[in-house]
Amino acid sequence: MNTNVLIVTILALSLFAGCTSQQASVASLDDLFLTRRSIRSYEPGRTISEAQVRELLTAAQNAPSWANQQPSKYYVAISPEKQAAVLEMIGGNKDRVANAPVMIVSTFEKGKSGFFRGTPANDAGDLWGAYDNGLSNCYLILKARDMGFDTLIMGMRESDKLRALFNIPEEEMILAVIALGYRAEEPNMPVHRPLDEIVKFF
Ligand SMILES: Cc1cc2nc3c(=O)[nH]c(=O)nc-3n(C[C@H](O)[C@H](O)[C@H](O)COP(=O)(O)O)c2cc1C
Repeated sequence: MNTNVLIVTILALSLFAGCTSQQASVASLDDLFLTRRSIRSYEPGRTISEAQVRELLTAAQNAPSWANQQPSKYYVAISPEKQAAVLEMIGGNKDRVANAPVMIVSTFEKGKSGFFRGTPANDAGDLWGAYDNGLSNCYLILKARDMGFDTLIMGMRESDKLRALFNIPEEEMILAVIALGYRAEEPNMPVHRPLDEIVKFF
């Protein structure tokens, strides 16, 4: 191979590598930790497709769970009608997320995580289901950020009304509603407690 052919080959290969690497996310995990914030104002008029929400929830399925019980379930309000209905069930959060195009209700099936043949394996009982749901939701919000979306986890919500709206069975505990959209404001970094206040080394 003469020098010119070699140079052209190297250029072509580096161009190809550059193109393909642009397909993947460029954000490091630390970037995601920093830029993922609770967003309380969203850009109006923007949409998110069902395919994008499916990608998000597929990522959430990678979260660990007790004995791989995978107790988390999701109810996605993606039509304008259902989104508007959910807005009426989140109390004072309504104004914060009114322009977020998608609302995701997360639940977990009770009596699975933390249970062995129907009996709680230890004192935490169904708290393990909530634990697993929180882990899934953590994957969800970080993946959302990686895809260029923003989120607000909302614990202030009316579970009875949500249960009726989505026909959620009584066997499931309704936890958070997660708003999904595009940020319309740059949030402040919250103050975190000093590390030594929350950790003890022995
Ligand atoms: C379980 C849970 C419930 C929350 N509920 C609400 C809520 O109802 N409304 C709200 O504005 N923020 C809510 N938040 C967001 C927190 O206030 C936020 O995560 C916290 O202030 C730290 O800010 P950051 O998410 O930007 O790091 C909730 C967060 C979690 C994890």
